[in-house]
Amino acid sequence: MKMYRSHIMVCKGTGCNSSSSELIAQNFEKELKENGLENEVIVERTGCFGLCALGPVVIVYPEAAFYSQIKPEDVHEIVTEHLLKGRVVKRLLYHESIDGDRLKPLDEVPFYQKQVRIALRNCGVINPENIDEYIAFDGYKALTKALTEMNSEQVIDTIKRSGLRGRGGAGFPTGNKWEFAAKVKDDQKYVCCNADEGDPGAFMDRSVLEGDPHAVLEAMAIAGFAIGASQGYIYVRAEYPIAVKRLTIAIGQARQYGLLGKNILGTGFDFDIELRLGAGAFVCGEETALMRSIEGKRGMPTPRPPFPAVKGLFAKPTILNNVETLANVCQIILKGAEWFSSMGTEKSKGTKVFALGGKINNTGLVEVPMGTTMREIIYDIGGGIPNGRPYKAAQTGGPSGGCIPASEIDVPIDYDNLIALGSMMGSGGLIVMDDTTCMVDISRFFLDFTVDESCGKCTPCREGTKRMLEILERICEGKGEEGDIEKLESLARSIKDTALCGLGQTAPNPILSTLKYFRDEYEAHIRDKKCPAGVCQALLEYKISDEKCKGCGICAKNCPASAISGKPKETYLIDQAKCIKCGVCMSKCPFKAIAKE
Ligand SMILES: Cc1cc2nc3c(=O)[nH]c(=O)nc-3n(C[C@H](O)[C@H](O)[C@H](O)COP(=O)(O)O)c2cc1C
Ligand code: SF4
Ligand code: SF4
Ligand code: SF4
Ligand code: FES
Repeated sequence: MKMYRSHIMVCKGTGCNSSSSELIAQNFEKELKENGLENEVIVERTGCFGLCALGPVVIVYPEAAFYSQIKPEDVHEIVTEHLLKGRVVKRLLYHESIDGDRLKPLDEVPFYQKQVRIALRNCGVINPENIDEYIAFDGYKALTKALTEMNSEQVIDTIKRSGLRGRGGAGFPTGNKWEFAAKVKDDQKYVCCNADEGDPGAFMDRSVLEGDPHAVLEAMAIAGFAIGASQGYIYVRAEYPIAVKRLTIAIGQARQYGLLGKNILGTGFDFDIELRLGAGAFVCGEETALMRSIEGKRGMPTPRPPFPAVKGLFAKPTILNNVETLANVCQIILKGAEWFSSMGTEKSKGTKVFALGGKINNTGLVEVPMGTTMREIIYDIGGGIPNGRPYKAAQTGGPSGGCIPASEIDVPIDYDNLIALGSMMGSGGLIVMDDTTCMVDISRFFLDFTVDESCGKCTPCREGTKRMLEILERICEGKGEEGDIEKLESLARSIKDTALCGLGQTAPNPILSTLKYFRDEYEAHIRDKKCPAGVCQALLEYKISDEKCKGCGICAKNCPASAISGKPKETYLIDQAKCIKCGVCMSKCPFKAIAKE
């Protein structure tokens, strides 16, 4: 491989890509050529660095200068100042990456300081479209080790002892799953990778596929060796075009290098992988539905047993693992079970990637050891809540999960603690909420999603979630009645107990969890017809302050419902019966005299 004195790493993850990072990369290439630097400095297009809120992000090595929110026109200055004259362009550096005159190493930047990157180890580090870069970072070494130094029992034993649990939601021990499938005798078995990622707010699987596709391919081949499978399928949603493109390239390169296909590394082991594109139905992430979808049938869940390990894809023994789960496998094989299990909590080992979103300064991807607290994630890594507003709750597990209120912010996060709090790990979407979030409205949002996504096969889910949504909508519209909370609780219990698949069984969780911690908000909506967070429009009243109103009349001129009247230089008045609560008056008043209560 050719050596360069500098490497310009341009993030080409979906976030940065959508804010012109390709143009930035092209500008670098053009400027380098114009300055005769094309043989000394290389431009690499990488996966996500994690700090998506600050994109487009560019890191220049060997200094590890962390440039954020770069515009295509900034490239000229970086090339002429930094790369030609050796002067880092301070004004473009991410502010937390400098300490006076000193450039901090990346692991000293607060956003990265508490992170431990295993699944994300190569994201932002290598060019995902170049297999040589993956190999240079120990790529395919774990597969080589498994095929040449271990037998399948030893591979399974290592994964079992590492304590790795599935990162796709339920946290089932990965080694045990592999062992079940290995023990079943059959001429054909399959390894599937679940890259459907339907949870709203989650994008860690996409980032791994975009930033390090070979890590998933290599792990699938190891899984194939462990259970005795010769064919793998990756089920990825078609809305992830960059991931699909990089996976396609990676599969082609791995085949060309003899790392997929027949007689891998001359060991006699055959394993190949094909992609299957999903159309973006949430229920297709459920394992039995996913397999039906790969078979070309309608993606609807089927009852278990039989479990996929016995009768899965095409009625053959099959294992299905999540992308992030697989992204841990090669490192475990290389570094050992003890290394992995030394991180995390007693029953949740290793790290977890969270997609941090909502009311948080550093929106992005973070990977932390299991057992890290919500406070550390939100304040130390996430940089806190915008405008210093108070933390109210964090929703984990998407539509299947629940929330962690302020009183539990110091609980170490792992599978069991989250369940005990009435939430769940889910795939790792983490949505932060402040005091301006209405918890009834949040429940309504998730139920709306579930109702849309229910496949309709079983009655409790098809009908029950609709009834719950109707009640929530009524409450948000100020038409809640005494007894609604009890109705919600009883529906929730029966849906949980009787729905066929995980979608229906977990659909009531957001309601139960918000009822557990924020029951008073439900009561305020129903009894007092008030929304304490000021979100539910129907329950708000726009009011003009006597002291602040200057009588300019701007509000009245802009009100679409002619609900405001008054005389110049006197306090104006809103007719609540006419007001349609559009909020225009409040946004137009130059004296901030209008408030919603
Ligand atoms: C409605 C529903 C949607 C799911 N969506 C996903 C998904 O998008 N990705 C995923 O990995 N697992 C998803 N799961 C969990 C899978 O069914 C399965 O448990 C998981 O892929 C197993 O992999 P793991 O053991 O590595 O976690 C979903 C489950 C349900 C019930
Ligand atoms: S619980 Fe919902 S999504 Fe699952 S099978 Fe029943 S109707 Fe379909
Ligand atoms: S725009 Fe503001 S200051 Fe002017 S009349 Fe309306 S409330 Fe009063
Ligand atoms: S909220 Fe809209 S309708 Fe109501 S008074 Fe203001 S401008 Fe008029
Ligand atoms: S997509 Fe560029 S930092 Fe995440």
